[in-house]
Amino acid sequence: MADRRDQGTFSPGFARELDRLFAWRRDVRRFRRDAPDPAVVEEIFAAAELAPSVGNSQPWRWVEVRSPEIRAEVRENFQEANAAALSGYSGERAKHYAGLKLAGLDAAPIQLAVFCYRNPEQGHGLGRATMPETLEYSAAMAIGTFWLAARARGIGVGWISIIDPERLSASLDVPEEWALVGYLCVGYPERSDDVPELERARWQGRTDPATRRFVR
Ligand SMILES: Cc1cc2nc3c(=O)[nH]c(=O)nc-3n(C[C@H](O)[C@H](O)[C@H](O)COP(=O)(O)O)c2cc1C
Repeated sequence: MADRRDQGTFSPGFARELDRLFAWRRDVRRFRRDAPDPAVVEEIFAAAELAPSVGNSQPWRWVEVRSPEIRAEVRENFQEANAAALSGYSGERAKHYAGLKLAGLDAAPIQLAVFCYRNPEQGHGLGRATMPETLEYSAAMAIGTFWLAARARGIGVGWISIIDPERLSASLDVPEEWALVGYLCVGYPERSDDVPELERARWQGRTDPATRRFVR
């Protein structure tokens, strides 16, 4: 895949293009129904496999859900989890929440459950003795890489966490040691935008980067 002759250098302007990719990556909940070319989807999976992982353990496991019956179970799972989440709000905030579209399960042509294998042989335990959660972080890195590689090809990804993970694991009959990290909807977006949908809906915009601190 990579051309080793160039020693991993990038052309002038590439960083700016990459910044544009970051700015235009969106969480997508409104999909066209036409399926992306399988060869392009394979390229995206190949990119995700290059994600960093603790001890190089590569603990991510992808389950593509094609069965209409299981997809219906997933939709029901989401709807119930979403109703429970709504009941945690009241007043105006509840009305606002009820009007948000928080999943693209109705139309996304590709659906993926992404799990983390919590006891991998790969990596021989390196890096996770004090922080076993780094396995889940690694799977999240793979999703992030998948997300960007998809967007670079014009394909959108929506991450769903409003779901009962145990019920989903039962629906998909996955091994007990696999923990759900996210359920992804994948396909062409109905529209492109450089503003997050939750910002457009006035739920939560981007804040000033007061998230950084310095210790001197
Ligand atoms: C771990 C994680 C879980 C998320 N779960 C949901 C979800 O269940 N439903 C949803 O609509 N968006 C979900 N999102 C998407 C976020 O709402 C979205 O990333 C955020 O609003 C910023 O928008 P952007 O991704 O378009 O920049 C999730 C994102 C992450 C990283």
